[in-house]
This record gives sequence, C-alpha cells and structure tokens, in this order.
Amino acid sequence: MKIENKGILIAIEGIDGTGKSTQLRLLADHLRARGMDVVETREPTDGPYGRKIRELYVDRSRCSPAEELELFVADRRLHVKELIQPSLAAGKVVLTDRYYFSTAAYQGAAGMDPARVFAKNAFAPRPDLVLLLTMSPQVSLVRIQESRGEALNEFEQEEQLQRVAELFASFSDPCIVRIRADQPLERVFGEIRSAVDKLLRDKGICV
Ligand code: TMP
Repeated sequence: MKIENKGILIAIEGIDGTGKSTQLRLLADHLRARGMDVVETREPTDGPYGRKIRELYVDRSRCSPAEELELFVADRRLHVKELIQPSLAAGKVVLTDRYYFSTAAYQGAAGMDPARVFAKNAFAPRPDLVLLLTMSPQVSLVRIQESRGEALNEFEQEEQLQRVAELFASFSDPCIVRIRADQPLERVFGEIRSAVDKLLRDKGICV
C-alpha cells in the first residue's frame, strides 16, 4: 500500500535498554501484515559517520561534546538525504530506531544546549509520531547488563543516563507519545499499536 502525498515517519526513542529495537521489529511486522510498505532503519546509521560514532563507544574522550554533536548531525543529514526523504517521497512508512530527540537528550546531557540541538536538526523531516519508551535508568542498566550480557558503553553510564532520562522527560512536542517500557513486552507493544493505529486513522488510512 502506497500512502498518497507523503509517507509516514515514526521514531522510537528512549534511553538505552528500553527495548526499542524489539518493539520496532514488532511494529514493522504489524504494519506489513496490513499491506504497508515499511522501511526499518536506525541511528547512528551504518554509514561513514555512524561508523565513526561507534568507534567513540570505546573511548569517548577522543572527541569533545561539540564534535560529537557534529558527527550525529552529519550522520542524520546523510540518513535523511539517502534513505528517509526518498522513502517518504515514495509513500512508505519509515520506522527509525532513534532520531533527533536522542541527540537533544544525549548531547544535551553531555553539555550542549538542547534548544540549539533541535535548531541544528531543522533540516530533518518532522516525525508524524515519536514513541518515547520510558523507564528508570537503574532498571535499564540492569537490563542492559543482565539480559544483553553486555558491558556498559561510554554512553550508558548511570549518572549520564539519568540526565538523558530527565531531558527526554522535559520534551513537550505534540508528536510525542510516552509509553512505559517497564511492563511486559506485549503490553508495551499493545500501547504502541494503539498509538500507531490512531495516527493512521487520523490520516484517513484504514487499518
Ligand atoms: P544504540 O545503542 O541505540 O545503537 O545507540 C547508540 C548510542 O548512541 C546510544 O547510547 C545513544 C547514543 N546516541 C547519541 O548520543 N546521540 C544521537 O543522536 C543518537 C542517535 C544516539
């Protein structure tokens, strides 16, 4: 199914360990089962800037917060140009795991002004819906270490994550729907499905 005029952009946001990737996959399946043409993507991307950003996981001190911000913005610029914009123009549904709200929250927590971060992202298409998964940083860190069996990366230290969570909580854009992620996976997905089905109905698309 092709959506006339323009596609739909949905971002899933939240601190690390909230289950964004799993929920994105479930949502993609749900929409495909309804005949929609879905593109699944994520930021940081696997492009040249995204790869540079992933190197930062190992040693974040190699780069100042301002340089880090420039890298995330450059990564998004390419992502928008090469994938997001063309997919929307083709009437597809784009689901992105993280978008510019992550930059405002994470680079904001690192000392950059969140309002300036939003302004720097004015080139990026506004999402139709932001599914913001919420959870306390303490719970998310336990989940990252226990369930994923991973050590914490530099972006995931507790104090830092607390500041990130507070910034996410402070955003008041009307496209944001907050969903508690400390519930069983199916309950979280049920709330996501309701929010997305409402968006589609509001746009006159039957599901
Ligand atoms: P991921 O774990 O979702 O792949 O994201 C990698 C890390 O990058 C995550 O800890 C959040 C961080 N990040 C930022 O700091 N700024 C951004 O703009 C984005 C998209 C991610």
